[in-house]
Amino acid sequence: MRRSPAGAVVTGAGRGLGRMLAALLVGRGHRVLVTDIDEEAARTTATGLGPDVLWAGVDVRDETQVDAARDRIAAEAGRLDLWVNNAGVLATGPAWEQAPDVRRLMLEVNALGTVNGTVAAIEAMRGTGGHILNVVSLAGLTPVPGEAVYAASKHAAIGFSLSTLADLRLAGIKEIDISCVCPDGIWTPMLHDRLDDPASALSFSGKLLEPEEVVDAVGKVLDRPRPVTATPAWRGLQVRLADALPSFGLRALPLAVARGRRVQRKMLAKSARRG
Ligand SMILES: NC(=O)c1ccc[n+]([C@@H]2O[C@H](COP(=O)([O-])OP(=O)(O)OC[C@H]3O[C@@H](n4cnc5c(N)ncnc54)[C@H](O)[C@@H]3O)[C@@H](O)[C@H]2O)c1
Repeated sequence: MRRSPAGAVVTGAGRGLGRMLAALLVGRGHRVLVTDIDEEAARTTATGLGPDVLWAGVDVRDETQVDAARDRIAAEAGRLDLWVNNAGVLATGPAWEQAPDVRRLMLEVNALGTVNGTVAAIEAMRGTGGHILNVVSLAGLTPVPGEAVYAASKHAAIGFSLSTLADLRLAGIKEIDISCVCPDGIWTPMLHDRLDDPASALSFSGKLLEPEEVVDAVGKVLDRPRPVTATPAWRGLQVRLADALPSFGLRALPLAVARGRRVQRKMLAKSARRG
């Protein structure tokens, strides 16, 4: 018998995909705690979603703040059954051109933040069960020139998620699922100002997703947990084939980058015409 939805936390939900995922969870009947490093954005999102929606300023790099969010939702909703690690940052360019604090920020938010959220959620879900959904990226499955450190942080998030899922099963814990959703480029604030950034070209080389398409994919994974879901599925297949033959895949990357640049230029021209 299905239990009714309980408490849910979404990180980085002050804007972009996270805000839409928080709305999805409210619609599915969860008591939602909207969190973001930008406390004001978290408050605005929560207020817009309804009077019962909670909010908190949470920096996912800080495990004390993450644990406090976990304890708060468990106390308010009685039980935590869903945790969405969505917070993420992207800075483009070759790793050697990035400042050390920029490289560190991406690794800490995207990888350590996912570790912190997952560990906090597991502690609350043991015995009662639950689902941890990690928003990763196609960049977690394949090389991404122009986004090397971002890709490293997302590969770390996938490696950690799948290894921890295996650890749960080895420990006989079957009531907790971990799912990773790996979207192609999404038209959110993360990409809005990158039409003129050649280092972001690969994000524009496949199917630039509307956030609603990713929300749909997440809804399906919430109904049926899966370790890895690439969105769209054909891009997942494409990057996995390229990974299986790395020399071939690396040779094909310049073509994909050139395609991404063409799409960027087209979109830039269109937005200039609109004024
Ligand atoms: N936009 C894309 O093309 C794309 C593609 C694949 C995956 N993703 C992933 O989707 C997720 C959501 O991205 P988005 O496109 O909505 O980006 P976004 O930049 O619009 O939103 C990211 C949110 O994370 C918050 N955040 C940043 N640092 C934080 C921290 N230390 N602690 C807590 N919150 C923090 C920001 O304040 C922001 O509200 C990210 O994990 C991103 O890597 C994005």
